[in-house]
Amino acid sequence: MNIKNNLFTWKRTHYAGTLRRENIGQRVTVCGWVQRLRDLGQLVFLDLRDREGLIQIVFSHESPDLLSLAKQLRVESVIGVKGIVRPRGEGATNPQLPTGEIEIAAEELVVFNEARIPPFQVIDPVVASEELRFRYRYLDLRRPSMQRNLRLRHEAALKTRFYFHRHGFLEIETPFLTKSTPEGARDYLVPSRLHKGKFYALPQSPQLFKQTLMIAGLDRYFQIVRCFRDEDLRADRQPEFTQIDVEMSFADEEDIFTLIEGLMVELFDLIGEKITPPFPRLSYQECLEKYGTDKPDLRNKITLLDFTSFLERASTEFLKLAQQANYVLKGIVIPGGASLSRSQLEKIQQQVKSKGSKGLIWIKGEGELKSSPRLEPGDALALWEKAGATAKDLLLLCLDQRDLVLKILGDLRGELAPSSSSPSFAFAWIKDFPLFEWREEEKKIVSVHHPFTSPHPDDLDLLEREPLKVRARAYDLVLNGYEIGGGSVRIHDMNLQRKIFQLLNLKEKEIEEKFGFFLEALTYGTPPHAGIALGFDRLIMLLAGQNSIREVIPFPKTTSALCLLTGSPSSVSPAQLDELGIEIKKTDKKNHNF
Ligand code: AMO
Repeated sequence: MNIKNNLFTWKRTHYAGTLRRENIGQRVTVCGWVQRLRDLGQLVFLDLRDREGLIQIVFSHESPDLLSLAKQLRVESVIGVKGIVRPRGEGATNPQLPTGEIEIAAEELVVFNEARIPPFQVIDPVVASEELRFRYRYLDLRRPSMQRNLRLRHEAALKTRFYFHRHGFLEIETPFLTKSTPEGARDYLVPSRLHKGKFYALPQSPQLFKQTLMIAGLDRYFQIVRCFRDEDLRADRQPEFTQIDVEMSFADEEDIFTLIEGLMVELFDLIGEKITPPFPRLSYQECLEKYGTDKPDLRNKITLLDFTSFLERASTEFLKLAQQANYVLKGIVIPGGASLSRSQLEKIQQQVKSKGSKGLIWIKGEGELKSSPRLEPGDALALWEKAGATAKDLLLLCLDQRDLVLKILGDLRGELAPSSSSPSFAFAWIKDFPLFEWREEEKKIVSVHHPFTSPHPDDLDLLEREPLKVRARAYDLVLNGYEIGGGSVRIHDMNLQRKIFQLLNLKEKEIEEKFGFFLEALTYGTPPHAGIALGFDRLIMLLAGQNSIREVIPFPKTTSALCLLTGSPSSVSPAQLDELGIEIKKTDKKNHNF
């Protein structure tokens, strides 16, 4: 069939998936992919798939040419069908399918493009490795679940834009070819052809530009923007990812919290979830003490209990010794944990020891308590009663340095908690983070958030004396154990900004080179301002009920930062390198991915 001549007459009248009983009797034209063929000899049933769903098409022996053409079709080929919508026969309806009451009796068929046999079946749930799915992403994206994810992403982006527009924010684009913006990761660099030996950095975030826009008097900025970070990848991290980036002049923490809470209400409405602000606000310290992490999943009701003061009264020898070593004793009650077997408990002990702890103390029992390592009965009972545990529970205690105890119990809290689905979404604001932390590998202090974050006004006098004790006006938005956003009130005073750079051990020359333009801008009239960036991919992942952001990004990279579809990164020609003034050092072959 000469497709070119026929294209015009093959204009689609309906998406396959939108046809319903109301269309019965209509002559329609549908176009899409062959999902499935059932050849019953005199009849061929074909499921045709397009973006909106599936429709059953019937070819019968009444049109022998058409029937024989249909029999030769292969799955995933792209076809057009003209035919009459009719009700399905008695007993042949499919209540699972929105189009399940009807079918199309085919009158004409065109094959736009024949497909090769696909490397995996385009169905949900998919049976293929992630590598195969990424290599053939165009097939993977044909699956209804992936189409749903991308549609949700589109709708969320649209809602976000309307929301900020309504609140007086302007979407303003910022450059991709720029200078390094310190967000704690490595930069992706782009060599300059015109200025050989010099490089642009792809932005880790538009941080400096959005602050500059506040200095420029734009007052309220947002942008749905791609950011680039060369860091170790995980299920919730990609080298290029999208932020909903926000900045607001004359604003403080609460202005940002209220603004973002309103956005969450609208975005979760997309999946029929009613979100009720205000979200709990927890200080970083409080959060660590209670949950052992700064990204707590608040659907999990278990909290860390502190027994350190008990050490003074303990009669068990090793507890007494621990008090002298300034250890802390904290614990968690695992509801129903009494049923854990000895081998399960042993496994937990091994896991905990592999994290550098000496192990856990567990207590359980009815009437007579059992504990391991053995505690004096009076001590076991006192701890058990203080924890409010019951016969079905297990009390796990950790005795060690504070940071290690928090880490161990925080992890166990997540791993051993009974899963709870109510509420489905638990948000929290975590605030008052420390301004700096000690980076052992580099033997220096670094910013916890970024260097543009304002110190807490009550802690200014500690900046030089005890910088690690200074709190920051920084906050994170946490949802179900994921950090979905982070931001801060900014420094808007040039002298304070310079001092922070100095405390971070930057030399004057480096400060000038990296941030001179920004320090200068700060001196020309800077409003107080605050902002936040939300991880758009993480948000969509949670909205779509997925476990990895790769499921909501159309063309993601693998965990080793490869694009399996295009084969990037890839080598470039010697001529191209020469033009950029770049020479590649000989490296070990093993380092090459292609
Ligand atoms: P931050 O570095 O906390 O803040 O980033 C904000 C949010 O972006 C998401 N995110 C990521 N998502 C996917 N892959 C990644 N590699 C990745 N890295 C971060 C997270 C995170 O909470 N400029 C500041 C914001 C500000 O101060 O206004 C910033 O970028 O959900």
